[in-house]
Amino acid sequence: MANPKKGPGMVAAAEPLAARVGTDILQQGGNAIDAAVAVGFALAVTYPAAGNLGGGGFLVGSIGRDNKQRSEVTLDFREVAPGAATADMYTRAAEAGNPSASLLGHLASGVPGSVSGMLTALERWGTMARRQVIEPALLLARDGFQMPARTHRMLNSSKESMLRFEATAETFFPNGKAIGEGQIFRQPDLARTLEFIIERGIAGFYDGEVADHIIIEMKRGGGLISAKDLLDYRSVERKPIRFSISNSSVVSMPPPSSGGICLAQMSRMLARFNIGTTDAESPQLYHLLAEVMRFSFADRNQYLGDPDHVTCPVKMLLDTERLDRLAGTIQRSSAASSAKLLKGSPPVKESEQTTHYSVIDSHGNGVAVTTTLNGAFGNKVLVPGAGFLLNNEMDDFTARPGEPNLFGLVQGSANAVAAAKRPLSSMSPTILLDPDGNVDAVLGTPGGPTIITNVFQVLLGLTRLGLSPENSVTAPKIHHQCVPDRLFLESSVPTSTEQTLRKFGHECARRSAIGDFQLIARTAHRGLVGVSDPRGGGSVSTA
Ligand code: DON
Repeated sequence: MANPKKGPGMVAAAEPLAARVGTDILQQGGNAIDAAVAVGFALAVTYPAAGNLGGGGFLVGSIGRDNKQRSEVTLDFREVAPGAATADMYTRAAEAGNPSASLLGHLASGVPGSVSGMLTALERWGTMARRQVIEPALLLARDGFQMPARTHRMLNSSKESMLRFEATAETFFPNGKAIGEGQIFRQPDLARTLEFIIERGIAGFYDGEVADHIIIEMKRGGGLISAKDLLDYRSVERKPIRFSISNSSVVSMPPPSSGGICLAQMSRMLARFNIGTTDAESPQLYHLLAEVMRFSFADRNQYLGDPDHVTCPVKMLLDTERLDRLAGTIQRSSAASSAKLLKGSPPVKESEQTTHYSVIDSHGNGVAVTTTLNGAFGNKVLVPGAGFLLNNEMDDFTARPGEPNLFGLVQGSANAVAAAKRPLSSMSPTILLDPDGNVDAVLGTPGGPTIITNVFQVLLGLTRLGLSPENSVTAPKIHHQCVPDRLFLESSVPTSTEQTLRKFGHECARRSAIGDFQLIARTAHRGLVGVSDPRGGGSVSTA
């Protein structure tokens, strides 16, 4: 899991072959962006549950063209709603007898952003040619690789819904059975798509044969994505959210991610409490965390949405006086009530099917990318002839007002569905900088709303709690998202801790593993330390 070797560069990713592709690129002289783009394309081949061409994501980087004058950048390549999408489309679908239209099948898919995102990043901040960074993925798709145990298991868990779609069934379940663990898995159609992208760049995906395949499939399956939607897709560079924690500064993703704002809010609220090494994993600290999470998610669900469509009151949300006032209401040993902030108490479903990867290169550039199809294998529709799955990101909108989404989030009108709008996200690729602006850590994880609370706990571990990178990741995690008013405890939280938290007034519920963290951190004595979460099946690769 941990690789304490000091090397010129490092990649941590949720799938080992893809991590290796990244360090190969670093060894060939590529920078962290070149490596990140190569890993992104490789994950689209080797980790089909979450790696993708048909999804979207966010990139946060601290990079410089000459590798000296570094600056922090973010790239938003989140999916957008098709032009024909409307605020009530999922309510109408439910009334017509299809309550899962935002999750399964063609209507669930937003216009994919990943190919635009990867290629835009390469063009702006990378140094290598498209072919050099995409070819490793193409070879993995064409020649195949051994089906990992984890993906085999995930295929079996999603089998019933995946078998509904013919091309998906043919690709992943030949003869009706999931490709076996260790069996060579080849994806010739996906290889062809990658070849088009190598040859024509962004147009190779959004225009021409690949785009035609998407449009034909949309028409066949009653989806909304049109040729114009694909041609209109653009990644957007956005101004990062910055805040400080101890002596370090943090750079994270702004809206349409809720991550950066929530992290900044929680950090500020927690700043007024004295905490140190001995507080790690204590019920007292978990309680404080739960309370700052509660406040932050109340804001998230009420105020945030796509900044290109709604006004996100970022200034108000980051206003330190307001945050200090909220923090001042936190009781040391008594839980507040979410009912006063928001209403309702829906269930939370578990799902860990996004993926994050972290890269640091020999020049000190750092890149954090979180990318997703949303649920495992997205909307389960593999585009016939093009070989990739589409996302079900439309469920991240307030798809059915008042009702919880896949992650139990009950969201407001700021996040209503609208044409060409991006759904609000919890993905939080994040970079930690030392006081001189050097990259100290690159962080991120999947996990829906637990992404935000998990990244916060790891940040806290590295900074205020003084934990090692390994312990920051492996420490038992908790999660509160305001609604439901329930404190989720990872299974490894001791029973005695749960008892104290119950005494404080928290309704507690257990969750299996939270997240699949991919961390690279610079340490004083061990140089770069990479940690690929032991909760998942990834690895750290050193260049
Ligand atoms: O953007 C979001 O917030 C979600 N679509 C992320 C989904 C996710 O992390 C699922 N896997 N754990």
